[in-house]
Amino acid sequence: MASVEEHYENLLARRYSWMHGDYDAKVRESLTLFEQIGLSPRRGGRALDLGCGSGFQSMALAQLGFVVLGVDTSGVLLEELRDRAGEREIQGVLGDIRDPAVYAAEGPFEVAVCMGDTLTHLETKDEVRTLAGDVRGAMEEGGTLLFEFRDYTTELEGTDRAIPVRMDDERIMVTFLEYEAEHINVHDMVFEKGTDGWQVEKSAYRKLRLGMEEVVGFLERVGFHIVSRGEGGGFVRIVALAR
Ligand SMILES: C[S@@+](CC[C@H](N)C(=O)[O-])C[C@H]1O[C@@H](n2cnc3c(N)ncnc32)[C@H](O)[C@@H]1O
Repeated sequence: MASVEEHYENLLARRYSWMHGDYDAKVRESLTLFEQIGLSPRRGGRALDLGCGSGFQSMALAQLGFVVLGVDTSGVLLEELRDRAGEREIQGVLGDIRDPAVYAAEGPFEVAVCMGDTLTHLETKDEVRTLAGDVRGAMEEGGTLLFEFRDYTTELEGTDRAIPVRMDDERIMVTFLEYEAEHINVHDMVFEKGTDGWQVEKSAYRKLRLGMEEVVGFLERVGFHIVSRGEGGGFVRIVALAR
């Protein structure tokens, strides 16, 4: 089993944006969500994007006028974000979101987001709990936190565990999920058409099975007030205020 970093480095990072289809549409999706929540810079205007990847949320936050700090362990994805961001107010930092020293000095943050399933990449629920406290400590009073992650609490069974991710004429990606008590093992397979025909690459990594109510509990215990919580499209989304 690869570590998260190895999995992104070996297989996922250079196909991550492709896997999601139209990049600009993904940024617009985040923008629409942030507008619905009413995010706009009112105080310090700094936003923290934890596990920013190629930047769907960072780009939307910058478009709203925030000065964005994106943190990620994937150098490949940060480089893509840098290329796409151009002159926008987005700084990408190579670092682990479990280490508050990576971002705290750049705060306090008016907004912090950890979205698109980054949270389930942490190794244990204790790390999620600690992250919640660390992020609270780096936020402005009254600032907004957005957590979004996939709900793996309900087990898929049989062939439903084999999930076609995306395919086009040159590339096919399929994921197989294997369930354990606290984790799932995610087996990614990518088939690519080269000059010598089709090639396959495989890699597997672990994700956490997190429930909405336990994450709400972590947030409340470290001083967040929950504004909304909900599930849709396979994702849990929690919006909270730093109080
Ligand atoms: C599923 S992607 C989400 C990226 C982006 N937020 C989005 O919605 O597309 C998870 C990202 O978190 C990063 N990541 C995973 N564990 C991390 C950690 N401990 N510290 C920093 N980044 C991490 C990965 O490299 C990857 O870019």
